[in-house]
Amino acid sequence: QTADSLFIINSFAEKFFIDQLFKTEEGRDIGLSYFKERGFREGIIEKFKLGYSPESRTAFTDEALSNQYNKELLLKAGLIAERNGNLQDNYRGRVIFPIHNNSGKVIGFGARILKTNEKAPKYINTPENELYVKSKILYGSYFARAAIDKADECLLVEGYTDVVSLHQAGIENVVASGGTSLTIDQLRLVRKYTNNLTIIYDGDSAGVKAALRGLDLALEEGLNVKLVLIPDGEDPDSYVNKVGAAAFVQFVNQHKKDFILFQLELSLKDVGNDPAKKSELVNKIAESISRVNKTEDFTRQQDYIKQSSSILNIDEAGLNALVNKYIR
Ligand code: GTP
Ligand code: MN
Ligand code: MN
Ligand code: MN
Ligand code: MN
Repeated sequence: QTADSLFIINSFAEKFFIDQLFKTEEGRDIGLSYFKERGFREGIIEKFKLGYSPESRTAFTDEALSNQYNKELLLKAGLIAERNGNLQDNYRGRVIFPIHNNSGKVIGFGARILKTNEKAPKYINTPENELYVKSKILYGSYFARAAIDKADECLLVEGYTDVVSLHQAGIENVVASGGTSLTIDQLRLVRKYTNNLTIIYDGDSAGVKAALRGLDLALEEGLNVKLVLIPDGEDPDSYVNKVGAAAFVQFVNQHKKDFILFQLELSLKDVGNDPAKKSELVNKIAESISRVNKTEDFTRQQDYIKQSSSILNIDEAGLNALVNKYIR
């Protein structure tokens, strides 16, 4: 009941923001110019239903209330806010990324500020409600599902703009996690379409750490996880705009690294000559390998044992025994 009403309200808001973007002078001068400067063309703006929320304090609030939308539901949807007893728009002077569920219905919004500063958050998102459950959302899944199925691979990026720019470049099997560490529910969504997950994150340490936190969960879900780091302060959006689609795809294919081996090589750099640290790492990697479901994927597990023991320069049979110790 509440969920149905929220869908209706979100759909009304989505249309409002689209109209603001294309049909008002402010929207065109500020919002549309912003998107164009980022390299988004009209076709892709329309496909992803991007919009603009005007700077006015109450433009959306007035429109929604005069159309008899319920105040409590508007608050719950995060579209309006109450401040000093007055109702006002929650998103003001921002570009809008609607977030759709797998059937294309709007469950929430991400609203980006036009010029980043320290005072205001870069993105404001819908608060958790009956529809918007952050841990279960993969941005872009509605637009990506057919392409994921066809490629039998899902690319996972951090942000909304990464998804939009890759689509525009013709790379459509891509979804975004929203910058947080991956949850089991997000991984299960991926598994509905494919077993092959390629995580493409910013090379900055926050991105890598967020990616690594998802590792053991992903392995338990039986996913075959690869990782690609985008170089030098770029992200997939900026990088594909810089080098073009073909070079982007080539970069990804050349730099795709198996997740377990990536983690191992990264950690090995910290270990140096410290035997205690090395033994800790060997145990950690054995545990990770043990999570690859042995009955379903025996060959892959043996492969990991072979490659890891070689990277670590330790005895393969010894590592095999240790992995078996961790298998419950
Ligand atoms: P642009 O700066 O517009 O290119 O966006 P981005 O996607 O590159 O941003 P970034 O890499 O900093 O963050 C990745 C994702 O994390 C974003 O797309 C958002 O989903 C989320 N995120 C980033 N900053 C914020 C924030 O201030 N608040 C919230 N709630 N989410 C954020
Ligand atoms: Mn399939
Ligand atoms: Mn980042
Ligand atoms: Mn970016
Ligand atoms: Mn980014």
